[in-house]
Amino acid sequence: MFSEWLKASIDFSKLLVLCDENTFRDCWPILKGILPSDVLVDFFKMEVGEVSKSLSICNRIWEKMTSMKMDRKDLLVNLGGGVVCDVGGFVAASYLRGISFVNVPTSLMGMVDAGLGGKNGIDLNHHKNRIGSFAFPIATVCDPVFLKTLPDIEWKNGCAEVFKHALIGDAVLFETLSVDGCTRENFTALLHSIQSVKLKVVEDDPFEDGFRKVLNFGHTVGHAIESASLKKDSTPLSHGEAIAMGMIIENEIMFQLGGLDASSNNNCREVLEKHLTKVKITSYSDDDLLEWMQYDKKSANGIIRMSLITSIGSCSWNVEVPQEIIRKALQSFR
Ligand SMILES: NC(=O)c1ccc[n+]([C@@H]2O[C@H](COP(=O)([O-])OP(=O)(O)OC[C@H]3O[C@@H](n4cnc5c(N)ncnc54)[C@H](O)[C@@H]3O)[C@@H](O)[C@H]2O)c1
Repeated sequence: MFSEWLKASIDFSKLLVLCDENTFRDCWPILKGILPSDVLVDFFKMEVGEVSKSLSICNRIWEKMTSMKMDRKDLLVNLGGGVVCDVGGFVAASYLRGISFVNVPTSLMGMVDAGLGGKNGIDLNHHKNRIGSFAFPIATVCDPVFLKTLPDIEWKNGCAEVFKHALIGDAVLFETLSVDGCTRENFTALLHSIQSVKLKVVEDDPFEDGFRKVLNFGHTVGHAIESASLKKDSTPLSHGEAIAMGMIIENEIMFQLGGLDASSNNNCREVLEKHLTKVKITSYSDDDLLEWMQYDKKSANGIIRMSLITSIGSCSWNVEVPQEIIRKALQSFR
């Protein structure tokens, strides 16, 4: 069916599949069997992890495409997590000024977030996602079969984004998640609702002129914690743990600002601590965290701005937050 759909959607004669070492081992054997047999198919395997979000990897993929004589009608299929989707989207958007690509996300993060929404990009030294573009895949094909081999730690990372989507845009989904969390068992039934939140936001504001910033809820404080942990801890926090803590603390900030009621704040904290992580930020100083927050893409001229929920299922963006409020909120987690 995938093969017939591909052939009906786009008239191509060559197809390159981009994967990393893990998705080459675990997912490529599944995809290989359902690709069209009458086109030239090849693959490019990149190193696992953020290290592959680099210009040198892009160069090697463009060279591979050139050696295959791929033209503007040919197709790239991104088979992997957020890293593969980010790199592949950028590579496809730039090759011959843009060729078609399909995302086949294989991680939870990829299926609920990175594979959707048209943002792609690579890192520049330690600056994450510094180079990139907006380019939309002709489709994002999510098959939960791929998730069987996804390690638990990666599952947890994706779960943080699932809760984020519910908190910014779907109170009913949050209610459902409050009971069992997002598990491998209930995920397929919830996938549509989870994706709908992001897809609606992207439809309203595809190029992040304003509203799309709500997708950044939890990330100003979360990224600060993640960066502080990467610098200080011998076993750094995972991205999911940091973002979960970010959401909890940002809710406390909004509560302090008078924009979120106490019962929603407490309810969220309880649910996120139960399903994602317990907050421990004692080893990072307020000054360190505030400094990292200044680097956040929404902050400018020393003013820290956040996307903060006003109730469960609704979020505002560009909220200016005075540093005293951030310090006060952080104190309640010391
Ligand atoms: N463009 C966007 O809108 C957007 C949104 C969120 C995140 N991102 C980006 O996504 C990246 C994080 O994504 P991620 O968490 O998926 O990381 P990832 O792509 O590195 O995947 C995580 C790990 O899981 C492995 N993996 C993936 N699928 C697997 C499977 N089915 N079986 C076995 N192993 C599998 C990968 O090899 C990797 O080791 C970051 O670079 C982030 O910046 C982009």
